[in-house]
Amino acid sequence: MLHLGLIGSPLGHSLSPWLHENFMEQTGVEGQYKLMELDPEQFDAEINQLKGEDIDGFNITVPFKRKIIPYLDSIEEKARKLGAVNTVVVTNGKWRGYNTDGAGYLESVNSIYPDVPSSSSRVLIIGSGGAARGVAFALSELSLTIDVANRTSQKAIELLEDLPESSRGESVSLNEASEQLEIYDWVIQTTSVGMSPNDGEIPIEIRNVKQGALFSDIVYKPLKTQFLIRAEEQGARIHYGHLMLLYQAAYAFELWTGEKLAPQELIRGMESKLE
Ligand code: ATR
Repeated sequence: MLHLGLIGSPLGHSLSPWLHENFMEQTGVEGQYKLMELDPEQFDAEINQLKGEDIDGFNITVPFKRKIIPYLDSIEEKARKLGAVNTVVVTNGKWRGYNTDGAGYLESVNSIYPDVPSSSSRVLIIGSGGAARGVAFALSELSLTIDVANRTSQKAIELLEDLPESSRGESVSLNEASEQLEIYDWVIQTTSVGMSPNDGEIPIEIRNVKQGALFSDIVYKPLKTQFLIRAEEQGARIHYGHLMLLYQAAYAFELWTGEKLAPQELIRGMESKLE
């Protein structure tokens, strides 16, 4: 019987328990996945309490993906470099940290657009938080040039400095990004702008989209954000945020159980839960 769960704050309508219960059903693994909302003010005490509990693994979401790192016994190289952990595997009481966001994102894109990316792609990432880092590091393994647009340019510069030099593009302002959208083959929105209940908001103006470009939003509530609506109106191909959520969860489940999944079977069910 596996004891799994999610730490974060707030956790309100998390889909993760539903996803992992379905993964268990699909694979015949017995276990439970529970929500553990921690008080950010009491993080140290509450994490130390979790250390004493009988748990086999857990996911980490906002705002603890960086804060968890000092509490780990070990960390995979990729997660250490990018500075964010979304999955912990517990073996003999030892905590090891991983990050499945980037691989989950890429797999979710490839499941729908097998031709993306092409090696000459020029990419724009909007945002510089934990999610942006996960995606940027996964893309940096594909030798693409990555520009980053963030409200706070210092954070974009720091993200770029952490990337391998071969994929390091420029830090551009949100306005500059809007002005030069026609140079990008792939635009990935990783901020919380546009998330319900602020569904009317959009982080950049979308016009002059390059032909064949792919626009991706990692926000999945609402399922179709203003960012995606506007990109589609301008002729872009679009990729929805719930798909990244699904595939990063599948990679986490594989780390805990060794079981390979068929995550696409859950897409319809997720959509009916989010609509
Ligand atoms: P996550 O781990 O989910 O990426 P995060 O680390 O809090 O979350 O990062 C949130 C991202 O959304 C940041 O890039 C943030 O921009 P700043 O670095 O300037 O704070 C961006 N963001 C959040 N609210 C925003 C807003 N109203 N306008 C523009 N960017 C916003």
